[in-house]
Amino acid sequence: MSPSAEVTVRSPAKINLGLSVGPPRPDGYHPVATVYQAVALYDDVTAVVRDDDAAVSVEAVGDFAADVPTDETNLAVRAARLLQAEYDVEEGVALTIRKTIPVAGGMAGGSTDAAATLVACNRLWGLQLSQTELQNLAAELGSDVPFCLVGHTALGHGRGEQVTEVMSRGTFHWVFAIAEGGLSTPAVYGELDRLRPLRRVESPEVRPELLTALLSGRPDALAVALSNDLQAAALSLRPELGDTLQFGLDQGALAAQISGSGPTCLFLAADSRSAVDLAVELAESGLCRMVRQAEAPVPGARILPAPANR
Ligand code: C5P
Repeated sequence: MSPSAEVTVRSPAKINLGLSVGPPRPDGYHPVATVYQAVALYDDVTAVVRDDDAAVSVEAVGDFAADVPTDETNLAVRAARLLQAEYDVEEGVALTIRKTIPVAGGMAGGSTDAAATLVACNRLWGLQLSQTELQNLAAELGSDVPFCLVGHTALGHGRGEQVTEVMSRGTFHWVFAIAEGGLSTPAVYGELDRLRPLRRVESPEVRPELLTALLSGRPDALAVALSNDLQAAALSLRPELGDTLQFGLDQGALAAQISGSGPTCLFLAADSRSAVDLAVELAESGLCRMVRQAEAPVPGARILPAPANR
């Protein structure tokens, strides 16, 4: 594929349908066994080539733009810099992130921007990297970045970076209560360790009933198979999230769970109409900053067709 002057990549948020966490490894990471699902909430990353110098710049627009760091800590900037360093790229890039996914919300917002940037710069700079090469770079950037490249529904092992696709039938309808402020992922993992110091922690495992529920495509089966080991830790740090989860259940959600390390709360609805009703109730409750609904599963990071990429 030849280089382009401008490329826009759309990349999804993720949720964890099951997240089982083992004891910390010597490197500080926790082994996980998780089932990821990509949901139809997207960030769009536009990459424009800078041929004046090798600078990497980033700006954010959209819902959560004010929460996005625009310095070297931004994961999209780190993704572009990693490609430059690995492949001796002499051109720079100006990145614009249109944010719809909450920042530090437990939905892989930063990770998906990094995945989008890898795909965009691969095209922009004509690097012609394979999917496998992109996956390896993604794993260096963060545990959730490889999943954001592939999307759909997948098992995650290791620290989450080893992904394999999982069969899933049909479409599920999710509602998200986005909380004020974020939660730091390391802080939530640290709180989990603090909460279970004396307990023997089993090796992480995916529940078989979760895989069966995904194959059946039935939301009622999925509802009883969801789990998240980080939920107790997120609730310990932000107890008020328990009220949000309970409110959703009282309004008819089939299931309620913290998304990843939180603080976003996710709710499974029986169908699209129930999802709309639940979203309205949550929005009026005053319990959260914002409410979104989205179907799943959806694909991972993908280049948008022209005219976005003229
Ligand atoms: O991989 P990523 O950079 O996104 O992880 C952020 C932090 O979350 C890590 O530095 C670590 O503290 C924690 N983490 C963990 N175990 C994982 C994934 C993340 O302890 N499997």
